[in-house]
Amino acid sequence: MIPEISDIAVGEEISAIDRIVDGYKTYQVLRAALSLGLFDWLDEHGPATREEIGSALSINGMFTRSLFQTLAELGLLAQKDDGFSNNETAGRLLVKRSAAYQGDWILNASDEQGQWSHLEDTLAQTVPKNTGFSAGPGPQFLQALAERTLRGEVQDVTKILSAWDGFDTATKLLDIGGGHALYAIAACQKNPKLHAVVFDKPHVTGITEEFIRAYGMEDRITVRGGDIVTDDPGSGYDIVMISHLLYKFRADLPAIFGKVATGLRPGGLFVSNHWFCGPVCGEGSAGISELDRSIHSYGHPLCHPENFASGMFSKGLVVTKKTTVRSNFGQSHVHVAEKVPEHKSQVPEYKGSCGCESCR
Ligand SMILES: C[S@@+](CC[C@H](N)C(=O)[O-])C[C@H]1O[C@@H](n2cnc3c(N)ncnc32)[C@H](O)[C@@H]1O
Repeated sequence: MIPEISDIAVGEEISAIDRIVDGYKTYQVLRAALSLGLFDWLDEHGPATREEIGSALSINGMFTRSLFQTLAELGLLAQKDDGFSNNETAGRLLVKRSAAYQGDWILNASDEQGQWSHLEDTLAQTVPKNTGFSAGPGPQFLQALAERTLRGEVQDVTKILSAWDGFDTATKLLDIGGGHALYAIAACQKNPKLHAVVFDKPHVTGITEEFIRAYGMEDRITVRGGDIVTDDPGSGYDIVMISHLLYKFRADLPAIFGKVATGLRPGGLFVSNHWFCGPVCGEGSAGISELDRSIHSYGHPLCHPENFASGMFSKGLVVTKKTTVRSNFGQSHVHVAEKVPEHKSQVPEYKGSCGCESCR
């Protein structure tokens, strides 16, 4: 049947779909502004006219009016007479020298090698990519991860850590898979007597050191390269923490908990910060955020936070507190455990997976 063109109706409903497409274009505007260094330039030279900005950043004059108007409508630039400058949000979140800078996390969403760039391929994947010891994270991703962590997660975890009775007298902390070292840095900032070791893959430690230098913590935080499965991160620690590392070890968690227990002094504290699997297990955030989390933890979600504690218990780590913290993909679960002498009685084995749809 050949349709009669006059009878075809697209209808008003298309506007909702157009808004989705406009969302993509709006993201590209922000991405271009970040990549061109617009916010950094304005931070240094603004307010400036369209012509001045266009000539400094090589933007064709044909586009400057609509580009800057879009950014002003988005609430990122302020315009006074013919001069443009960063508004407060852009100055705080989009200028590189700002402590709360988010540019790398924003750019990471469209990373060519990332999972969102070719979502149709990601959705068809049957085995997780890049899970080997020598794979990732690269400097760009770690920088992006650090920025994501600053959105409340590291602040919340540090609050939990510093609420522990032994925190003020603690002198040694270990962060396993610490990456950007922000958790260790934040804890050392709260307790001036605290020294920390950040344990991570050898090809990551150079980047870790850069973060430590940026926060002036070289004399209190050291970095140790190794594989937590085969290497020894040391012992006598008052606090051991692990954040967003255990997903790929879910089949062998008791072995990792054993390492944690060996590293802790008696009475020492273990803090774990991880997401647990999605709505099938009774937890989940809305729509796109849930998809983001599934993609992020694809192939290795942790399941049932309530059972996770039994794996620790078998190694003498007794959970004293379970809570959640804000994170970019909804709530993340924090388990706080104290080391007691190894428990000899039988405890249920925890393998990380419950066999639900997301786990399989
Ligand atoms: C997702 S990042 C988490 C970084 C940080 N803990 C956080 O929560 O933001 C995982 C980190 O664990 C490190 N890692 C992965 N496998 C490891 C292993 N076998 N031994 C030591 N570190 C490892 C990675 O290099 C990376 O820095």
